[in-house]
Amino acid sequence: MNFFTTAAGNYDRHIGRYGPVLAPELIAAADVRPGEHVLDVGCGPGALTTALLKLGAVVTAVDPSEPFVTACTERNPAAKVRQAAAEDLPFEADRFDATLAQLVVNFMQDAPTGLAEMARVTRPGGVVAAAVWDYADGMTILRKFWDAARTIDPDAGDESQMRYCTPDTLADLWSSVLDDVQVTEATVRASYTGFEDLWAPLESGVAPSGAFTVALDEERRAALKREFRARLGVGDDPFELSARAWLATGRT
Ligand SMILES: C[S@@+](CC[C@H](N)C(=O)[O-])C[C@H]1O[C@@H](n2cnc3c(N)ncnc32)[C@H](O)[C@@H]1O
Repeated sequence: MNFFTTAAGNYDRHIGRYGPVLAPELIAAADVRPGEHVLDVGCGPGALTTALLKLGAVVTAVDPSEPFVTACTERNPAAKVRQAAAEDLPFEADRFDATLAQLVVNFMQDAPTGLAEMARVTRPGGVVAAAVWDYADGMTILRKFWDAARTIDPDAGDESQMRYCTPDTLADLWSSVLDDVQVTEATVRASYTGFEDLWAPLESGVAPSGAFTVALDEERRAALKREFRARLGVGDDPFELSARAWLATGRT
C-alpha cells in the first residue's frame, strides 16, 4: 500500500515541512559534489531533488506516486523525473555517482531488493545513502501522534515498529550490500502557526498517521485530536517541533 497517493500539498503541510531542511543533511552525509549525477529514489514532491539541483548536481528522480511525480516535475524542471519504484529501477547499471533515498526505505515493499537496485545503478565506489526517521523517540510529531493514537486504539500501528528505523537495523541492511557503512544522525526543525496548522493535513489521509486518522469515526477522531494536542503541549500560537533522522551511507 502506498500512503502517498494524495495531492502533494497535503504532504507538504505534514511531513513535507521537514524535507527541505533534512535534504542538505543527507547530501552532506553522502558527500555529493556539484556536477555529479545523482538519483533521488522516492522523490515525493521533490525536496531532495530541489536541494541537489541547488548544489549543482545533475538529478534524476523516481517515485511510484503519480501526483508526486507530477509535483516534482513541476517544481524541478531541470530534473528528469519518472514514475518507478526502488525495487525495479528503470536504469542501466553503474549509471549514477550517488543514489539517495530520503524517508523512503521503510515504505518500500521490499527494502533489501530496493537497496540492491540502488547499489546496482550506482557506479563502483559511488555512494548509496538514505535518511529514515527516529520514529521511536526523536521524531516529535510522529512519536506524539502514535502515543496519542494508542490511547484511542491500543493496536494502532506505531511507525516505530517499521523494520529499518534504528541505527543497528539500518547498518545491518546497508552492510548486506555496501562497504564503508556509516550511520549518523541529524536533527531538524519545522514551524507551525498553531495546532490546527499541524492537524489539518492529517484529515487528508496522507502518510500512515493520516490514514489512521481518517479511518476513525467522528467521535474517536475528535478524541485523538484532543489527546494529540495535549501530548504536544501546544495551542493556537506558533511553535516549532524537532525531528531526528538516522542517515545511512555506504559505498558500492
Ligand atoms: C515520506 S515520503 C518521502 C518523500 C521525499 N523523499 C521527501 O523527503 O519528502 C515517502 C515516499 O516514498 C515513496 N515510495 C513508496 N513506496 C516506494 C517504493 N517502493 N519505491 C520508491 N519510493 C516509494 C512514496 O510515494 C513517497 O513519495
